[in-house]
Amino acid sequence: MIDILRLLAETDLQKVDWFEQVDSTNNRALELATQSILQTPYLVGAEQQLSGRGRGTNRWWGSDGSLMFSVIVEMTSLGVSPIDWPRFSLVTGLAISTTLESFVPGVGVGLKWPNDVWLQGRKVCGILIEQCDRYPGRLIVGIGLNVNNSFADAPEELRAIATSMTDSAKGDQFSRTEVLITFLNEWKTLAGFVAEGSINLVERWSRACVLSGHPVKITNGNQDAIGVCAGIDSDGALLLRTAFSMEKHYAGTVRILE
Ligand code: BTN
Repeated sequence: MIDILRLLAETDLQKVDWFEQVDSTNNRALELATQSILQTPYLVGAEQQLSGRGRGTNRWWGSDGSLMFSVIVEMTSLGVSPIDWPRFSLVTGLAISTTLESFVPGVGVGLKWPNDVWLQGRKVCGILIEQCDRYPGRLIVGIGLNVNNSFADAPEELRAIATSMTDSAKGDQFSRTEVLITFLNEWKTLAGFVAEGSINLVERWSRACVLSGHPVKITNGNQDAIGVCAGIDSDGALLLRTAFSMEKHYAGTVRILE
């Protein structure tokens, strides 16, 4: 069970709705975000999602023991200016990475541009950020994080690409409330640094980027680009060194070619 009172007491969340089952916490949060008066940050979480959404047309399959939640944030009250919004998912990924490092130390945490966090070379977390049409200053930050849901008995093709905190910690179980509190506080700290411009994101991202130095293929719609990843630029673009130039990519799906 999630301890909602602790969430409210130990983070800056103003409201928490936690459901046994919803279609998608992002959908629920998008509906809430249309209300003119809303206390934020507002967290919507669920034990189960019937149609959890990933990027594009992807689905998100969460299982018992994972964390699935969406936070409605007012970017202006966080002090993050519109120019920084596109970078917010990488900042969120960094906060997740720092959280993972504190619970599962020394097991290779990294950012997989643009929206994933990897643990030991496999996906442990996906991030889906959406904007409220009616109030464009409100973002819905949806996060799926595999905590106590083991992939040990999952089909081989899934085990090869996905993992969880418990799988990286030899079966140890974690308090999801503690994980959530740690993430939310780290996220707030990082957002504050971004707002005051006191963080070198290029250095932090490039250190965390699991693609750096690898030959990769970026697919965006029906366009492919192949090169060696040279890290992440200050605006959040993936840098790709091709045979001819250094290219910047702002969207797409990346695969390591090895
Ligand atoms: C991705 O990897 O493509 C992003 C996955 C995001 C999944 C989370 S789970 C909570 C929130 N609600 C959703 O429907 N999706 C996000």
